[in-house]
Amino acid sequence: MAKITAGVATSHVPAIGAALDSGKSGDDYWAPLFAGYAFSKEWIAREKPDVIILVYNDHASAFSLELIPTFAIGCAEEFSPADEGWGPRPVPKVIGHPALAWHLAESLILDEFDMTIVNRMDVDHGLTVPLSLMFGQPEAWPCKVIPLAVNVVQYPPPSGKRCFDLGKAIARAVESFPEDLKVMVFGTGGMSHQLQGPRAGLINKDHDNAFLDRIVSDPVAQSKVAHLDYVREAGSEGIELVMWMVMRGALHETVRQVHRFYHVPASNTAVGHLILENPEP
Ligand code: DHB
Ligand code: FE
Repeated sequence: MAKITAGVATSHVPAIGAALDSGKSGDDYWAPLFAGYAFSKEWIAREKPDVIILVYNDHASAFSLELIPTFAIGCAEEFSPADEGWGPRPVPKVIGHPALAWHLAESLILDEFDMTIVNRMDVDHGLTVPLSLMFGQPEAWPCKVIPLAVNVVQYPPPSGKRCFDLGKAIARAVESFPEDLKVMVFGTGGMSHQLQGPRAGLINKDHDNAFLDRIVSDPVAQSKVAHLDYVREAGSEGIELVMWMVMRGALHETVRQVHRFYHVPASNTAVGHLILENPEP
């Protein structure tokens, strides 16, 4: 049977992708950020997932304000890097896992999560930057990726509780897939940042560190935090953190934290990163 072995959370700032793509990752500004992912790259090269269910948000690249799915699952064979205004990032195509994606769609929808099924979708920095942070710059991504897009751009986003419950439903779905697959779930976005309005530039280290503690040790309490609390404490784009709750919901209540990293700033964002392993059966 398929099995979720671990979850990864990481911020997804576009400037991180640009720094890597233009050979600036060793610059004084960027080196401390990439140093926080050195362990992670070794860890994932060792752990070798077959499939990543990558929970991220599209930033008006694949979807516009004309069509805003709350939860969308990518069932295609492949997904191309999106053109976000400077041309597509020079990264490999993302190869999907249609059989598992359709199984997820069926299981989640019958479990009363009304997923939007997407058969064609370009993927922006929300998805490709986390892959770059974990895998560097390979010729091809070393595993299959199922994109799961969450609307956190246009109000109203789903609640943290809904995201946490979706994660639990993902775990049930994966556990009922008959093929022996090692599956990881990524939750991306955050941490505190606000790109617009009078509070643009907001960073809240106290909030972020408390969130990093709580999502590991007391996810049920964290799942009850209202979305306006995320916005007030972490900024308008800090609401991206609800996507970490999907990842957390897909793991066991008690997990092993194998890595934690926090760094300010990367572009306008506080960067957070966690690697959590499910206990061995
Ligand atoms: C930045 C962060 C984001 O999450 C994003 O989607 C775009 C820009 C930034 O920090 O610049
Ligand atoms: Fe973002």
